[in-house]
Amino acid sequence: MKLVFATHNKNKVREVKALMPSNIELLSLTDIGCFDEIPETSSTIEGNALLKANFVKEHYGFDCFADDTGLEVQELNNEPGVYSARYAGSDNDAHANMNKLLANLDSKSNRTAHFKTVIALIQSEETELFTGICKGTITRDKKGTSGFGYDPIFQPIGFIKTFAEMKLEQKSEIGHRGKAVRLLINHLTKA
Ligand code: IMP
Repeated sequence: MKLVFATHNKNKVREVKALMPSNIELLSLTDIGCFDEIPETSSTIEGNALLKANFVKEHYGFDCFADDTGLEVQELNNEPGVYSARYAGSDNDAHANMNKLLANLDSKSNRTAHFKTVIALIQSEETELFTGICKGTITRDKKGTSGFGYDPIFQPIGFIKTFAEMKLEQKSEIGHRGKAVRLLINHLTKA
């Protein structure tokens, strides 16, 4: 069975491919000749995952899934949330985004936050959502150099390291995206 992962991110495709059951042939957007920037115009993380999966189904006819992730900070009414990539502007500048978040949280004592990944799967006209959450806190300073995005300022609950100080395997084991992907794989394996 062919299944498209609606992303242009080669690292994400490689990671998920390694976990897929052998009866599923995972295809990337490049594999199906889709070079469009799929619009992410929803005001929710769920909505954007669905928009991307629906776009591929409608325009290319493949069963597919898409993911969307945001960092939700309690004291900031769950900002940056769906706007995580462009919190400080439109160009996905991780340091500018982190600086803005640290400045907005400067006077707050409650630094509770969580990452949320939603995967939308459209398979044989059925739609399913899989959600992975990783709870933690926003540190006062950036620590570590691994990973991407907000990793240097996110410390998961129960750990003394930020995501950016962890090995990728450990981050995937406890992280939001890994949890959502494992729920998806369980579902596909059962089917
Ligand atoms: P996407 O939906 O996976 O493209 O994620 C949207 C934005 O959320 C990214 O551009 C990052 O700023 C942030 N983000 C997503 N996942 C992570 C993560 O695992 N660590 C840190 N930041 C992340």
